[in-house]
Amino acid sequence: MHSRLLSVGIAVLGALLPRAAAEYECNRTYIQSFADSYVEAHENGQLNNLENIADNFTYIENNKTREITSGIFNNALKIAHRHTIVDTIACASFTELIITHNVSGEPAPYVIGAQIRHSPGDLSCYLMDLIVSTTGSWLFNSTKTLEYASKENWTLIEEDKRPSRETLKNAADAYLDMWSNSTAEAAVPWGQPCDRLEGSVYTGRGLPTDSCKVGIPTNHNQAPNSHRRYVIDPTYGSISVFCIFEHLSNAPDSHEFRLENGKLRFIHTITLANSGGFGIEESAPQPVVRYRKREGLRRGGAVGFSKRI
Ligand SMILES: *[C@@H]1O[C@H](CO)[C@@H](O)[C@H](O)[C@H]1NC(C)=O
Ligand SMILES: *[C@@H]1O[C@H](CO)[C@@H](O)[C@H](O)[C@H]1NC(C)=O
Ligand SMILES: *[C@@H]1O[C@H](CO)[C@@H](O)[C@H](O)[C@H]1NC(C)=O
Ligand SMILES: *[C@@H]1O[C@H](CO)[C@@H](O)[C@H](O)[C@H]1NC(C)=O
Ligand SMILES: *[C@@H]1O[C@H](CO)[C@@H](O)[C@H](O)[C@H]1NC(C)=O
Ligand SMILES: *[C@@H]1O[C@H](CO)[C@@H](O)[C@H](O)[C@H]1NC(C)=O
Ligand SMILES: *[C@@H]1O[C@H](CO)[C@@H](O)[C@H](O)[C@H]1NC(C)=O
Repeated sequence: MHSRLLSVGIAVLGALLPRAAAEYECNRTYIQSFADSYVEAHENGQLNNLENIADNFTYIENNKTREITSGIFNNALKIAHRHTIVDTIACASFTELIITHNVSGEPAPYVIGAQIRHSPGDLSCYLMDLIVSTTGSWLFNSTKTLEYASKENWTLIEEDKRPSRETLKNAADAYLDMWSNSTAEAAVPWGQPCDRLEGSVYTGRGLPTDSCKVGIPTNHNQAPNSHRRYVIDPTYGSISVFCIFEHLSNAPDSHEFRLENGKLRFIHTITLANSGGFGIEESAPQPVVRYRKREGLRRGGAVGFSKRI
């Protein structure tokens, strides 16, 4: 018995040590301050304050490579809500921004997710990968998104309660696998309360019984959520995943998950797809409709949904 435990212990050490040694931690302060400069670029409507840009820098917006000067950064935006996490292993950050107006007070409705990646060596920024949603995107209404997001508490997780990177990645992957894998739902660490902010629609009512199971896929034979890119920050119990919703005409998508005590507490989604006939004026049970429609899209043909991106 003892010798078996010992050998298990050695095997565990053997598995952990080389990986721990190989894991170089990037400078959190630096990555955070670059994210600050990125947010300032939106506020100023110009990119001059972005420094240490890599030679091979690439800008991606809604899963397309573009010139960074081609659009969103020409508008000086008033940032109504901002949330940033930092991945010190992947040398990356994720920032969520909610905007209703620009600095001139004109309407500028946007909800933006930004994954920013740095080279481990000189920390130069080589990729800004944005999901930019606006009027017409899935369940879009940035005023409502702002109302719900402002009420949530995404504070730092106490040190001894932080989930591991693996726990966060497994939770996010299990969730995003539900469309294409019938056993994935059982692997999701569902919490209660749990609230999903899907575009501008909230699955909860602020009650202890709130559940994120509202409207989850019942058809597990759909095309997968692929091309996943991760930013993981255990200090906030959070993971950002960008992906492609293949079952929704390859819609670019952002999901951010927050775990508390190892269980799902919050989910925020941004999806670059048409809401079809289901406009933002519809209220609460709408997410149920959403996922049912996705099944319908696959099973019954895309009547009324053919214009989705
Ligand atoms: C991390 O980055 C900050 C901000 O750029 C800098 O002040 C600090 O010296 C860096 N820390 C290390 C250990 O390089
Ligand atoms: C867009 O998504 C597809 C996967 O569906 C991927 O192969 C492609 O590289 C993506 N484009 C960019 C610029 O990331
Ligand atoms: C604010 O938005 C309006 C309308 O789109 C635009 O004309 C104006 O230039 C914007 N202001 C700034 C400072 O970007
Ligand atoms: C740019 O360089 C970084 C490393 O410095 C690398 O990780 C990344 O894949 C490169 N990007 C492209 C688009 O080649
Ligand atoms: C967005 O939501 C706000 C707050 O609920 C509402 O007043 C507004 O009419 C909505 N906007 C649109 C375009 O539906
Ligand atoms: C957020 O949660 C933390 C810890 O759970 C708590 O200390 C803090 O008071 C909360 N903040 C708000 C505004 O509720
Ligand atoms: C389906 O999900 C389960 C639970 O997360 C996982 O163990 C399994 O590997 C997945 N199957 C496939 C084919 O991805």
